[in-house]
Amino acid sequence: MVAELRAALLDADLSARPTLRELTDDDVAAVVALDREAFGDDAWAEEVYLRREDWGCLLIVAERVGRDGGSVLWGYVGIEPRGERCGVASLAVAKDVRRHGIGSRLLGVALDVARRAGAASVDLEVHPSNSVAIEFYGKHGFEPFGSVADYYGVDGGSALLMRHELHRMDVAAEH
Ligand SMILES: CC(C)(COP(=O)(O)OP(=O)(O)OC[C@H]1O[C@@H](n2cnc3c(N)ncnc32)[C@H](O)[C@@H]1OP(=O)(O)O)[C@@H](O)C(=O)NCCC(=O)NCCS
Repeated sequence: MVAELRAALLDADLSARPTLRELTDDDVAAVVALDREAFGDDAWAEEVYLRREDWGCLLIVAERVGRDGGSVLWGYVGIEPRGERCGVASLAVAKDVRRHGIGSRLLGVALDVARRAGAASVDLEVHPSNSVAIEFYGKHGFEPFGSVADYYGVDGGSALLMRHELHRMDVAAEH
């Protein structure tokens, strides 16, 4: 029995940890599909991703490269400068791989990038009914600090504002 398990281990994929890197134009179709799965009709159009330089947003993807060399996009995060702060423009993980720490890894890297770039905090807007995201961000040190009226269009309602304070001394402590 152990021999069978050992043989299966040889075939099992032990490299499932995704690689994080900046989004390229080749990723856009996959990100748009992932976005649609996560946000439905509120998903961003392809054009938004293709014109990301004009928009001024750094997009980071989590990619899983298989042993056959093929890759699957598991998630992405967009982070944008907002004066002395940064904002999480969007974050989503593919449905079938949620709850495996991929969102945490993407958010952790986004926070680290913002901190290293000298931002004072990272802010975001989230729908008040999105209890999963609020729980997720709360676990990562984000606290509610207000709301924005009519954020989600005419009938979409207000957004809850959440903030994660960054501490520059955290960077210094690493060196
Ligand atoms: C929010 C989202 C990005 C989380 O990604 P994820 O990879 O599943 O998150 P993680 O596995 O890193 O979860 C970290 C923690 O967040 C919380 N969390 C995540 N999913 C949760 C759920 N369904 N219910 C309750 N808590 C949840 C838990 O505290 C979890 O820790 P645990 O698994 O040890 O209990 C993902 O659910 C998603 O893509 N949702 C749709 C898009 C969205 O709402 N984006 C945010 C709005 S901008």
